[in-house]
Amino acid sequence: MSAKLTIAIDGPAGSGKSTVARRVAAMLGYVYLDSGAMYRAVALKALERKIPLGNDTRLAQLARETHIELKAPTAEQEAAGFKNRVVLDGREVTAEIRTGEVAQAASRLATIAGVREVLVAEQQKCGAGGGVVMEGRDIGTVVFPRAELKIFLEASAEIRAQRRWMEHQEKGETFSIEQVLEEVRDRDRRDRERKVSPLVRAADAVLVDNTAMGIEETARLIVMLAREKEVTKQ
Ligand code: CDP
Ligand code: CDP
Repeated sequence: MSAKLTIAIDGPAGSGKSTVARRVAAMLGYVYLDSGAMYRAVALKALERKIPLGNDTRLAQLARETHIELKAPTAEQEAAGFKNRVVLDGREVTAEIRTGEVAQAASRLATIAGVREVLVAEQQKCGAGGGVVMEGRDIGTVVFPRAELKIFLEASAEIRAQRRWMEHQEKGETFSIEQVLEEVRDRDRRDRERKVSPLVRAADAVLVDNTAMGIEETARLIVMLAREKEVTKQ
């Protein structure tokens, strides 16, 4: 039996983190955890309660009062393209958190230190036993700085926007590719420039640019790196 690792995958929106992380977890028999879903869930709750996204104190309080569960998707959810199932305070919000509005609100809320503190602690608890692939923006830098394998997943902004646009098309949403590119760039800028835990490659993270790589190819590369680490960890 080889030892199980903690694998951190970070990168910008649309770089393939969720799809690739989920595939890697399945290939290794690990648990897949999407930290972004937690920011999205708190953002959805804030939007529903009409809490101003500039009110740091109330939002941090809201995060403390929120219970989020990440589960494996049902067969129907999987067929509809969802990579995980998200339950917010006992309510299914899997589809609701995947809108552009929630994504933008999540990236605003993610700049607040008090909100991050709560969610990071929760993420550390979820992944404490190892055998996990967690993806997000600060997993290798803040959540699991001692993860045995860190990947920084990149792809050009144009291809990332194109991937997101295709997803919108499949859901019957009619955004132009320019609109999606602007949304992706806007969020990237906020994620990279914020003061707390900005999106940055950890010094010891392997940079994987999958602009011209498919999902399977990218996942296999990461699994290969993981297998090497599993052997040295034994
Ligand atoms: O989680 P993140 O925002 O980084 O990206 P994702 O949701 O995993 O991927 C965005 C879209 O790009 C999905 O529809 C993936 O199937 C697709 N994708 C791709 O076509 N080729 C890749 N190498 C990676 C992702
Ligand atoms: O799937 P996509 O890459 O578009 O976004 P996501 O992973 O669902 O994350 C939504 C937003 O939450 C991001 O734009 C970040 O602002 C924030 N986030 C974060 O700050 N730290 C994380 N570990 C994960 C997400």
